[in-house]
Amino acid sequence: MYDAALELIGSEPQPISNDEYRRRVDRLTSQMRPGDLLIVPASNTAVHSNDVHYPYRTQSDMLYLAGWDEPEAVFTVHHQEGKWISTLFVQPKDTLKEIWEGRRPGTEGALADWPIDAAHSSHELEDHLQAMLSDASRVLLRTGIRSEIDQLVVNALERRDRARQHFGSGPITIEDPSARIAELRLRKSAAEIAQMRFASDVSSIAHVAAMRNTKPGRMEYQLQATIEGFFSYAGTSGWAYPSIVGCGDNATVLHYHQNNDVCQDGEVILIDAGAEYRGYAADITRSWPINGIFTDAQKEIYQLVLDAQLAAIDKCRVGLPYNAPHDEARLVLAQGLIDLGVINQTLEEALDMETGELKKWYMHNTGHWIGLDVHDVGVYKPNGEPRLLEEGMVMTVEPGLYFGAWRPDVDCPERYADLGVRIEDDVLVTSGNPDVLTSACPKTIEDIESITGQSF
Ligand code: GLY
Ligand code: MN
Ligand code: MN
Repeated sequence: MYDAALELIGSEPQPISNDEYRRRVDRLTSQMRPGDLLIVPASNTAVHSNDVHYPYRTQSDMLYLAGWDEPEAVFTVHHQEGKWISTLFVQPKDTLKEIWEGRRPGTEGALADWPIDAAHSSHELEDHLQAMLSDASRVLLRTGIRSEIDQLVVNALERRDRARQHFGSGPITIEDPSARIAELRLRKSAAEIAQMRFASDVSSIAHVAAMRNTKPGRMEYQLQATIEGFFSYAGTSGWAYPSIVGCGDNATVLHYHQNNDVCQDGEVILIDAGAEYRGYAADITRSWPINGIFTDAQKEIYQLVLDAQLAAIDKCRVGLPYNAPHDEARLVLAQGLIDLGVINQTLEEALDMETGELKKWYMHNTGHWIGLDVHDVGVYKPNGEPRLLEEGMVMTVEPGLYFGAWRPDVDCPERYADLGVRIEDDVLVTSGNPDVLTSACPKTIEDIESITGQSF
């Protein structure tokens, strides 16, 4: 399987350019007014135990605006002498710390190589922030990430309140800039799409490797290892979200995470796993038979989910509401389940959100935005109305059917008992046809049967 990784090596896209980062910040400052101070904090590392830390992953807004992925950073933008100044506060050079934890760019490295106007040590954050706050009339800050920064802003606000009494100065207001940044992140640039395509290619090949490595007796965690090992081997930073690897009735648990069961002859396995590359996520689900051949009953459900997915992908088009793929998938699934005798209602009845039977077997949405976060930012219903799709938006399309015979709330049809099938791809909305970024991952019954178990 590692031959496939070799094919990818050399096809990595160029990183996002500093010019692009600056354009992103310009777009944001064009909505700001002098007197605004933007503060984008990154969280600190989290302790696992004693000297061991959890792997660090910074906030996506920090990645989006500054491309900086080290811990404890703070990115600010303030207005001074007629222009906007971006500043990055970073961990300073520290030989002892660097001997133990790794080399640091420090302030000089940050200024030389990152898209910023100024860099300071994170040790000087408080002094600089105090000065910036004293000139600010509105602070754009997402609270709740770094409590000490929240406190500095609140203190400044209280001081202003007192000063207002004496000198009439102030006020400071605090606004969450997340929604403004989300609006920018929702539409992906060509360079972002290139990163996502690479994450998608790696994830597709990883799924194929797991299909090839599947046979009765395999443990779910062994297939997880095949996939996640490949993520690392291909040079990504690993998973974009914890892998879901569930065979048999485990596939009917939507966020199954134990991944410790044995794969049995006759079962279908559902794997939902995607890599993260330079911060950008892929999100793929495939479902395949452990022994390499679908039973007739499994084929009926698999083909129905695939038909629903293909019909939904075709609705990822400019000008359609974001929920058009969901509505289409529900329509196809409901009609299919009526035809298979699983649902004894009219189509209209089956689709009803209160009393319809479709939701017994299909209980989640058909997709979500994807980008720097796997469940990416962006309001689905601005002003209460479904957002219309635009070129550059990327969403997942992931219908499924889940027949958990273990569920006390439903009468599971015996023919499909303990079968869970989901098929998920990541789709770019273009001015033309939908562009399936994860199209390298096979999904027809014929292709899946020809690949599964091929390693043996
Ligand atoms: N992997 C989580 C999801 O598909 O939304
Ligand atoms: Mn998803
Ligand atoms: Mn998924």
